[in-house]
Amino acid sequence: MKCDRQTLPIAAIREENSSLRTFTFNGQLNAEPGQFVMLTIFSQGEKPFSILDVDAHSFQMTIKNIGPFTSRIFKMKIGDLVSVRGPYGQSFSRKTGHVLMVGGGYATPPLRFLAKKLQEAGVQRLVSINGARTAPDLLYVDDFEILCHESYIATDDGSRGTKGTSVDVMENILRKETFDQIYISGPEKMMKAAVAVAKKHQLPYEVNLERYMKCGVGICGSCVMDPTGLILCIEGPIVDHETLDGLDDFGVSHRGKTGRIEAL
Ligand SMILES: Cc1cc2nc3c(=O)[nH]c(=O)nc-3n(C[C@H](O)[C@H](O)[C@H](O)COP(=O)(O)OP(=O)(O)OC[C@H]3O[C@@H](n4cnc5c(N)ncnc54)[C@H](O)[C@@H]3O)c2cc1C
Ligand code: FES
Repeated sequence: MKCDRQTLPIAAIREENSSLRTFTFNGQLNAEPGQFVMLTIFSQGEKPFSILDVDAHSFQMTIKNIGPFTSRIFKMKIGDLVSVRGPYGQSFSRKTGHVLMVGGGYATPPLRFLAKKLQEAGVQRLVSINGARTAPDLLYVDDFEILCHESYIATDDGSRGTKGTSVDVMENILRKETFDQIYISGPEKMMKAAVAVAKKHQLPYEVNLERYMKCGVGICGSCVMDPTGLILCIEGPIVDHETLDGLDDFGVSHRGKTGRIEAL
């Protein structure tokens, strides 16, 4: 089993909004969009985070301050040491025809990374939908604008873009245009709705799933999905439409901290 662990100081911290920060680390990470790392704070434990971007000498993650571990990270300063192992998991495929990306909330980092890679690969048409509760919650608006041929915004309260969800915008777009591939990353209920729309139009899709992950390398079983026993940290977190069809707990339930199945 591969374990590429690096102990690194935080090189930069960028405030995205009141609850989200992007952390930069100077180190090499051979990662693809959709993969994640396990980030350790010494004597505090380890949690998984998606990769926002990599270049030759650095990599980034955007983290939401949501609970005990992430609030610890938010107390850390430039120069403080953390440890990172990975990258782990499966990445998005790289379709370069007509591509639609549907994102929601703080799950958009892998789509931002994917947009960059698809542009580098010469994607023919790239359309993004970026959804959030309110305008300040939107991430990487300028980046999607630059990287995509067309970029749409949806906010629940209508403070920016269309009033509604990214799935509402998706439905409107698919009335006028078709795509070779749809990439979806957001809260699971939103992804479930987006999958229903993609199915209605008989379009292929991939989703970015989140489950409680403890080891990240297929040992503990906490990320296993029913009934197929898919080990998400190894076989996901990016899952294609055929695999997703076999997962009964998508949008319904997950294993919590103790491994017990809980409703989402
Ligand atoms: C593959 C993957 C990629 C992720 N990428 C990001 C990211 O880019 N940015 C980001 O902010 N968060 C990301 N997360 C979620 C992140 O790991 C959790 O938000 C974080 O662990 C919360 O820890 P906490 O102690 O602060 O909060 P807790 O109090 O432990 O949890 C807060 C909420 O997060 C859920 N959660 C906690 N730990 C995990 C875990 N290990 N796996 C999944 N859900 C968990 C809990 O069920 C709860 O709903 C990702 C999770 C996975 C599985
Ligand atoms: S997180 Fe341990 S098996 Fe996936």
